[in-house]
Amino acid sequence: MQDIRVSFQQLFNTSASLVVQSPGRINLIGEHTDYNNGFVLPAAIDKSVQVAIAKRTDGAIHMHAIDLQESVIVPAVGIQPHATSWVNYIIGVVAQVQKYSATASNNSAALDLEKGFDICIQGDIPIGAGLSSSAAVECAVIFALNEMYQLGLSTMQMALMTQQSEHEFAGVKCGIMDMFASLHGKSNQVMLLDCGSLQHHYYPLDLKEYQIVLFDTQIKHALASSEYNTRRLECEQGVGILQKKYPSIKTLRDANKQQVDELLKTEATLIGTKVYNRCKYVVDEIDRVQLAVKDLLAGDIKAFGQKMYDTHEGLSKLYEVSCPELDILVNAVKDNPHVLGARMMGGGFGGCTINIIKKSEVQAIIDTVADIYAQQTAHTLKVHQVKIAQGTHIK
Ligand code: GLA
Repeated sequence: MQDIRVSFQQLFNTSASLVVQSPGRINLIGEHTDYNNGFVLPAAIDKSVQVAIAKRTDGAIHMHAIDLQESVIVPAVGIQPHATSWVNYIIGVVAQVQKYSATASNNSAALDLEKGFDICIQGDIPIGAGLSSSAAVECAVIFALNEMYQLGLSTMQMALMTQQSEHEFAGVKCGIMDMFASLHGKSNQVMLLDCGSLQHHYYPLDLKEYQIVLFDTQIKHALASSEYNTRRLECEQGVGILQKKYPSIKTLRDANKQQVDELLKTEATLIGTKVYNRCKYVVDEIDRVQLAVKDLLAGDIKAFGQKMYDTHEGLSKLYEVSCPELDILVNAVKDNPHVLGARMMGGGFGGCTINIIKKSEVQAIIDTVADIYAQQTAHTLKVHQVKIAQGTHIK
């Protein structure tokens, strides 16, 4: 990749005022729990997005995606969702920042923002692979705007605002995990995030003679956004029923297995077993994350890995967000004694599996899985070996 400052200079004929780098994320366990106020265990990775930015004075936002070689210009006032998805990851954030600074006591930033800016982006996070490339763009953009316009936002505010931008401009009613992990990641540490309170703790990830390997189905999961939103609604439907008897249940985080069995299993004939299955998975998974962290702290990677397999089973059978290719990849390693855990990661319907594999066996296992994947699907396996890295920062 060319130095982004050089590209910026060539594109806009002026120097960038700053460059911000924001990482993608992995998630060890805790999937589809974030929007249910549950726990997740993500970490930022050494694949990232960079943005270079400088102010303009003519009221236009000039954007360029270096990897796609696409340019788009929009007026800085009256921002609306755009037909091009990468553009929305930028302007959606601008819209949030404008909303925020319009209500701030000193609205000079809002006025300054209306004068526009130049921005270019590049990165090495595979798109649609479930590694949160979109959140990385959004976090890089908000971090850069915060710095350039001296907005004084905390990273917590930035996480919430980028999540809102994803809801409004990308149409995905995502949880907080991806943005939070991208903004708050620390090298070599995973974070246990309570998505209800946003309290988080870092734990060193010591996998001993094992390492993380991602197997990429190369099925892009972009089309899954509507199913994603449906899952969210199904969870809310479950909460609605539980609430009638237990008014203190506001989200699935507040519910336990007995309550889900008592009310949703018996109601299953009326509401369909789907809602029961979705809620059962979520309540189980929220418990599982907490137990998995105990395994990790006790150094019991085997028990941790087994929970990853259990998560995959739930995501595939009960939550129904897997796809045949992801299941093939998990099945390909399930009985291998050198793979302690494997599961689909992220929103689902494509993207990657995350695997915990014995270091000495990694290459042999990659070869075997690639063969199986080629035989059983029409796609070629891609492999990503990632390290846990620092969150969003100025370069
Ligand atoms: C996507 C969303 C996250 C989270 C995961 C599933 O990555 O953006 O908020 O819900 O799916 O755990």
